[in-house]
Amino acid sequence: MIKVSAPGKIHLLGEHTVVYGKPALLTTIDLRVTVHLRGAKAHLGGVSNLTKIIEPIVKKELKISKASRFALKKIPPYELTITSDIPIGAGLGSSAAVSAAYIGALLVFLKVKWDLNLINKLTFEAEKVFHGNPSGADNKTVIFGGITVPNKLAKNFVLINTGKPKESTKEMIELAKPRIEKILNDQERLVKELLPVIQDGDEKKFIEIIRAGEKNLEKIGVVSPYAAGIIRKIEKAGGAAKICGAGGQTRATGILLTYHKDKKVLEKIAKAENLPYFSTSLGVEGVKLH
Ligand code: MEV
Repeated sequence: MIKVSAPGKIHLLGEHTVVYGKPALLTTIDLRVTVHLRGAKAHLGGVSNLTKIIEPIVKKELKISKASRFALKKIPPYELTITSDIPIGAGLGSSAAVSAAYIGALLVFLKVKWDLNLINKLTFEAEKVFHGNPSGADNKTVIFGGITVPNKLAKNFVLINTGKPKESTKEMIELAKPRIEKILNDQERLVKELLPVIQDGDEKKFIEIIRAGEKNLEKIGVVSPYAAGIIRKIEKAGGAAKICGAGGQTRATGILLTYHKDKKVLEKIAKAENLPYFSTSLGVEGVKLH
């Protein structure tokens, strides 16, 4: 039995502007997708939508690359089980994680050497099918792992789930397009300032940058009024919060990345809004063959 898992991700900052070549800071979270795959006597039943996306990408690669010594006409039958802790479509990189784990497992099944660069290349192809014009940052993070956040900061994060946005990532990228130009440089500056601030565990500056970065995301229309309302409450209480990933326009915006020096304040706000929330370790290992 082949077992491969991949983590979800959060955007510390730089979502949307990363699509236009600007830097972004992401890290992995300790929620994973796990794929079990083993050979079977025959293909079982129907083919899932995911299989319809993943198999052609893998087949195309194996025909043209030297990674595999055989030109594959057909993928032998196999059984696949996918389990996931990552909320789907909430800005936590669920699509990149499931593709990475599936592709990794399928390549092992086809006797291709375990190679993170190859898994990344093919996962990026799958991300293009899902999201149209992705930056590639999500797949890189869930495959290679994310930056380390010192515990001093990491222990005060809470992820609040506002629900799955009605809008897809593709739609949110389109929606942001007309206004993105005016935030590109400022968001780039903030992302660059954020890295040393995180490394130093400088809480005051961290809060300032996240607040400013969130304001920029609001300027491009990717934060619904509902989510902005919750974020204002957190700021008023002395913390900082931002959407995480593509966001949403109508109501649900997926995960809010929230921070306060006293985590209980965030938990209280989430409870008052009747929203699920959780904390998780950051900077965990990327895609993994068990
Ligand atoms: C999606 O998780 C983040 C976006 O920046 C899109 C991308 O990077 O491909 C909105």
